[in-house]
Amino acid sequence: MIISGKDIAAQLRSDMQQQVDAMREMYGRAPSLVVIQVGDDPASTIYVRNKMRAAEFCHIQSRQILLPSSITESDLCKQIEELNRDNNVDGILVQLPLPEHIDEEHILRAIRAEKDVDGFHPDNAAYLWLHQPLVKKHVASIYNPVPDYGCTIPCTPKGILSLLASTGVELDGKRAVMVGRSDIVGKPMAKLLMDRQCTVTLAHSHTSDLPAVCREADILIVAVGKPKLISADCIKPGAIVIDVGINRLPDGTLSGDVDFEACKDIAAHITPVPGGVGPMTVTMLMQNTIDCFRRRMAK
Ligand code: GUN
Repeated sequence: MIISGKDIAAQLRSDMQQQVDAMREMYGRAPSLVVIQVGDDPASTIYVRNKMRAAEFCHIQSRQILLPSSITESDLCKQIEELNRDNNVDGILVQLPLPEHIDEEHILRAIRAEKDVDGFHPDNAAYLWLHQPLVKKHVASIYNPVPDYGCTIPCTPKGILSLLASTGVELDGKRAVMVGRSDIVGKPMAKLLMDRQCTVTLAHSHTSDLPAVCREADILIVAVGKPKLISADCIKPGAIVIDVGINRLPDGTLSGDVDFEACKDIAAHITPVPGGVGPMTVTMLMQNTIDCFRRRMAK
């Protein structure tokens, strides 16, 4: 069965629209998000445009700040500090990658953890790794995919948990293989799956006999950026396969990291590219903005 991230994202966004309208009634203003783009990288321009459109749809107040690629690190920090201090700003996102002369880690630390809607600030990452939420009390659904960690959870792993919830498959006790060990997807995903009582393998470019490792997976998640790396011989019959990759092929078409056509009849559930994980990541950014607003208002 194909998991339509596009349809699930649309359902979640309609629900968020209503949540945001109710919040505006209650608190006198809607949650607000500021997206900073440095330079004019074409891929970043498309991603930022998608984020602004999603915010508009959800009735989240949003603003885009476009800065020249020649901006200094210290001027970018000053801009971020101004937004940190602004009580009417709930979420701040700096679109990555940044120009080479700017230290990304430094910039991600400059955003106040409470306004970090990506979940990339070291305080949010540490909280995720050190905190053990009460999973037993949590009933996962597409609307509520992760238990309350009290911090921002990165958007892509959170969106993937929502997709997994849509299948209705129980995660407890399952073998999960995460291919890719990035800070944005692989590492947080592995921790979230461990907390859901999965036995997790974190595979990467140096893993020997990757197909054999993947074949053990009841849940296979791939985020490496190599088109069609995962072929039919990597899939355990009946597995759930989640493809995070979006790769442009020489003929101009898009392909995931999974050979979709070869794997779709072996897997029980599989995400397409496009229309799988991508729309969910942007949707979870909206949810994270709403959650940051809610936490700030509760203080
Ligand atoms: N560039 C590509 N993906 C992302 C993302 O999720 N967040 C940010 N800030 N930049 C990105």
